[in-house]
Amino acid sequence: MSLNTNRWNRMRYTLYTPIYDLLVGKIFTASRRKSVELLNIQPDEKVLLVGAGTGLDFQFLPKNAQIWAGDITPSMVTKMEYRAKALKLNAMLNVMDGQNLQFPDATFDKVILHLIVAVIPDPVKCLQETERVLKPGGEAVIFDKFRPKDQQLSKFRAFFNKFTSSLFSDITRVIENLLARTSLVIQQDIPANFNGNFRIIKVRKNN
Ligand SMILES: C[S@@+](CC[C@H](N)C(=O)[O-])C[C@H]1O[C@@H](n2cnc3c(N)ncnc32)[C@H](O)[C@@H]1O
Repeated sequence: MSLNTNRWNRMRYTLYTPIYDLLVGKIFTASRRKSVELLNIQPDEKVLLVGAGTGLDFQFLPKNAQIWAGDITPSMVTKMEYRAKALKLNAMLNVMDGQNLQFPDATFDKVILHLIVAVIPDPVKCLQETERVLKPGGEAVIFDKFRPKDQQLSKFRAFFNKFTSSLFSDITRVIENLLARTSLVIQQDIPANFNGNFRIIKVRKNN
């Protein structure tokens, strides 16, 4: 049985909030920048960040974009509010569940999913919601760690995942299998941190 539920994630990320930037603030900076650059955000485009944490991606967003960002953990949202204010970002920030986005269909030009698809309890629902709120022709970037699609799931990894998925993130997910449950199309797949265990994947909603 996995502990990976919204309730548990909210509890553990409330505890992680004060140390989150210290732990992951530096190591992923280059990948965050590269991922956001791939989106080529244009002035006045509507951009959504799902599971945005403390807002470590905000520094790479253009000031003239319209930003919406949210997270399931209220203390994370409080921290991202400070960051958005300091950066004078035009941003609407809320507590939100990435599996049940409170936006009409076809609202956003771009969506950013950084370090959330391997964390969220139901990644397929999160990707389906991303697809729903994207406009036709809209794009999303996914940055996370995924199991290569040609790598068998070993018993050891499956067992170890009971701990990692409850304390950090899932290490068994195959992004190609998750995306196959949507109509999103992979445009780019770039190896990133830790010898390519982390990848930056750009997807497009064709219609
Ligand atoms: C590893 S952190 C990533 C934060 C940020 N995206 C980043 O790149 O630093 C995972 C975040 O997902 C949030 N989260 C977990 N489940 C969620 C859900 N169902 N909906 C929205 N956010 C969620 C957590 O509260 C946490 O802030």
